[in-house]
Amino acid sequence: MQKSHLEQQFGSEGTGGTSCGISLQRASHVGRWALPHLDFPPMPLTHISDTARWIAVMRARETARPDALFKDALASKIAGINGVEIAHQMRARGRMPDWPIVMRTIVLDEHILRGVADGVDMVIDLAAGMDTRPYRLALPPSLTWVDVDFPGITAEKNELLKNETPNCKVERIATDLADEGARRKLFAELGARSKKALIIAEGLLVYLTAEQVTGLARDLAAVPTFTYWTLELVSASLLVRLNKTVGKRLAAAGMPMQFGTDQGPHFFEPLGWRLLEARSMFREAAKYKRLTFPMNLFAYLPEGKPPWKHPWAGVCLFENTQPRSPRS
Ligand SMILES: C[S@@+](CC[C@H](N)C(=O)[O-])C[C@H]1O[C@@H](n2cnc3c(N)ncnc32)[C@H](O)[C@@H]1O
Repeated sequence: MQKSHLEQQFGSEGTGGTSCGISLQRASHVGRWALPHLDFPPMPLTHISDTARWIAVMRARETARPDALFKDALASKIAGINGVEIAHQMRARGRMPDWPIVMRTIVLDEHILRGVADGVDMVIDLAAGMDTRPYRLALPPSLTWVDVDFPGITAEKNELLKNETPNCKVERIATDLADEGARRKLFAELGARSKKALIIAEGLLVYLTAEQVTGLARDLAAVPTFTYWTLELVSASLLVRLNKTVGKRLAAAGMPMQFGTDQGPHFFEPLGWRLLEARSMFREAAKYKRLTFPMNLFAYLPEGKPPWKHPWAGVCLFENTQPRSPRS
C-alpha cells in the first residue's frame, strides 16, 4: 500500500527505523481537509509553550523504538498534531536529533528517583510543559508533584490528562517564572508545604537570560526546604552552535535560546548550590551508542576547569547550601 504524505515524512526515525505512533495516528485523523496544507505548512510555533509539544514528540518517537530507553505512553497523545508539525519543521531546518532529549530524560528520571529514595516529599517541575513523569515513574502515592508553567499549556494539560491516573498527587500551577514577585510567592508557599523538595528545570534555562537564571537560582536557594535541584545546562560554546541551527528558527519565532555558560555547573555555586553530579549528554549518548561518528569525538573531550571553550550539554544535580529549616 502506498504511504501517505505524513507517513513518508514522519514514519521512520533515523537509525532506529521505527514508526512514530503520533504521526501515523494523526495522519488518518487529519485526513482529507488538512493534507493540502501540509505541502507548505505554516510554522505552528507561536508561543514558547509550543516547544513543549516538540519535546513530547521526541519522547513519543523514543517510546516507539524497539530499543527505547523509556516508555512515555502519554507523549503521543499530548503532543498533538501541532507537536508533530513543529518537530518535523525543527528537524528539517535545524537537524536536531532526538538523543539529547532522550539522554536528559533518563538522567533526570534517575535524579528524581534518587531524590525520592532519599526522602523527597515534593517534586516541583519548573516549566513542566508536557512532561508526564507522574504517570510513568514509580513514585510513592504520598509524593506531591507540582507542575509549573504558563496558563495556556497548564489548562490544556489538565484537560488532556483529566482521565489519566498518576502514581502520586499532582498539582498544576500557572505562573510566569520570569515574574520575580509571582515566583517568590509561589516558592514560599510550596516551601512551607514541603519538608524536602526536589526542583526540576528541564528545557527551561536556555530560554532565559543570564540575569533571569541568576535570579531564579537565588530565589530557589532561599527556600530552606528546596533541597535538590536537577537542571539541564548548555555551555556557551554549544549555545553558539545551537543558534546557528535550531536556535535560528526559535529566535525567528520570538523565543531565542539565550543562556549558556563557559563556567559549566560552577555558575551556580555562588548562587547557593553545591554540585553533586554533572552528567554530559554526549557521554551518556555514547554509552548508549546513540551518536554518529563525529559526535563521538565530542563525547570524550576532557572537561577540565572553566572557562569551557568546548560544546557541552548536561544534566546537573545540585544541593542547596543555604541553612536548612529546623523542620528538616
Ligand atoms: C522546551 S519546553 C520544556 C518542557 C518540559 N520541561 C520538557 O522537558 O518536556 C519549555 C517550557 O518552558 C515553559 N516556559 C518558558 N518560559 C517560562 C516562564 N517564564 N514561566 C513558565 N514557564 C515557562 C514553556 O511554556 C514550555 O512548556
